[in-house]
Amino acid sequence: MARRNKIYEGKAKILYEGPEPGTIVQYFKDDATAYNAEKRDVIEGKGVLNNRLSEFFMTGLGNIGIPTHFIRRLNMREQLVRSCEIIPLEVVVRNVAAGSMSKRLGIEEGTALPRPIVEYYYKDDALGDPLVTEEHIAAFGWASQQDLDDMLAIALRVNDFIAGIMFGVGIRLIDFKIEIGRIYEGDFHRLVVADEISPDSCRLWDVKTGQKLDKDVFRRDLGSLTDAYSEVARRLGILQQSATPITKPTIVN
Ligand code: TMP
Repeated sequence: MARRNKIYEGKAKILYEGPEPGTIVQYFKDDATAYNAEKRDVIEGKGVLNNRLSEFFMTGLGNIGIPTHFIRRLNMREQLVRSCEIIPLEVVVRNVAAGSMSKRLGIEEGTALPRPIVEYYYKDDALGDPLVTEEHIAAFGWASQQDLDDMLAIALRVNDFIAGIMFGVGIRLIDFKIEIGRIYEGDFHRLVVADEISPDSCRLWDVKTGQKLDKDVFRRDLGSLTDAYSEVARRLGILQQSATPITKPTIVN
């Protein structure tokens, strides 16, 4: 097989040049990192699960008219996506207080918020992805006012969509992060949901027991991350029922 050109290697994914101009192959690694990569491990099967889960969410978003970069899944660990210009912001939507918001504002984890709260973090590992306001974003030109309006609308629609799907399988969507990119068409551009949507970038709690089914299992040493992600995939109908612990996930096509 011809050697592919690597464009970028991040903490959880590698991007390769795609087969056609304007496309990229996104490869999901098994690496898990937390606290700005201070904690790291290799979790067998995580990449396979996230590839499949992200395909599930991106396809669903496309089906309800929210544009994404996703084209199609290629194999167990790779998906073909459209190349886009990533806006250097992590867009976080919170339904329930947890994580950094609980810490910053002294709100007990698990407190329902009066309405979904959207936050922006500037993507810069060296700075630890600081929280920024719309004023910073506009002043430093990271996004235009039109982009900001569109990003807010997209983020809230993604929230409604994922929260609804999750609630249907007994899971509460506490919060999540998305990245948004620009795809240029002549003089204009439109925004698409990019990167990935998976339990790496969401907080998911079982509705009845409050059990954590997301990356906090790794961050806080709460047990097997693959078991937690497999449980999410199984409830969504992506994984076959299995009585045995899953280290190599069996994916339903
Ligand atoms: P936080 O409480 O640590 O700010 O995280 C909020 C949500 O965003 C949580 O679901 C995890 C996700 N997130 C990422 O996916 N990547 C990141 O770098 C950060 C800071 C958060």
